[in-house]
Amino acid sequence: MELSQRQLDWFAADSARMKLADLDAGVLPRHLAIIMDGNGRWAKKQGKPRLFGHKAGVASVREMIGSCVQLGIAYLTIYSFSSENWSRPKDEVSGIMKLFVEVLSREVVNLNAQNVRVKLIGDVDDLPAGTKDAFAHCVQSTATNTGLTLVVALNYGARQDICQAVRAIANDVADGDLSLEDVQPELISSHLSTAGIPDPDLMIRTSGETRLSNFLLYETAYTELYFTDILWPDFDREALLDALIDYRDRERRYGGL
Ligand code: FPP
Repeated sequence: MELSQRQLDWFAADSARMKLADLDAGVLPRHLAIIMDGNGRWAKKQGKPRLFGHKAGVASVREMIGSCVQLGIAYLTIYSFSSENWSRPKDEVSGIMKLFVEVLSREVVNLNAQNVRVKLIGDVDDLPAGTKDAFAHCVQSTATNTGLTLVVALNYGARQDICQAVRAIANDVADGDLSLEDVQPELISSHLSTAGIPDPDLMIRTSGETRLSNFLLYETAYTELYFTDILWPDFDREALLDALIDYRDRERRYGGL
């Protein structure tokens, strides 16, 4: 692939350049989804509180955004807070919510500079007011950007999302606005919070866990899965290139031969 100066600057290390040269831009995912896991264990290994790991994890989010921008990947979805994460200790939950506010107020300028548009999926209404406002501001301020779409899954659960879609469709059927025959896979997709976003081509989960944990269950029917033992705060641009090289070598058959 022919590299621009910006790409060369971003992937400056020799080892990164070699990986980049190995990649075929023609087979990059259009939509990359990531389950960012292992912040707590990363912090524990250094004898630090869990929130220290979440703070370090923000640097990896920046690594992914910058890399997707430089590679021309159109959609990046990150699992930032699941519907189930509320069951964590109170201090940790409030720390993560505060961290979101801090990071968003600091990063919105950089997101705009990189032409990144932020979208949210999940039940945002249940978030603390400050966090909700910070995200609303970020979404609004980046709404007209035309580069990477960063989809932040917040208080998100795939089963909950499917339930709200089923409720809306059932309502339309009951009202006679839809017939039972209208209920097709595309109709369900169009009622999910990811409506209008192509299904992920590649999903990465860090930290050695090998499950989907209620993330994008409907959308990942044909998604390639990549699992790595690297803990999220250590997952950097070169680790991403390794995942993309692995993806390049997959043969996607979508159930055909
Ligand atoms: C999973 O690690 C991580 C989270 C639940 C929080 C992730 C949030 C961030 C990295 C901040 C992102 C910032 C923005 C602005 C979107 P874990 O706590 O489950 O780790 P463990 O499995 O080792 O306990």
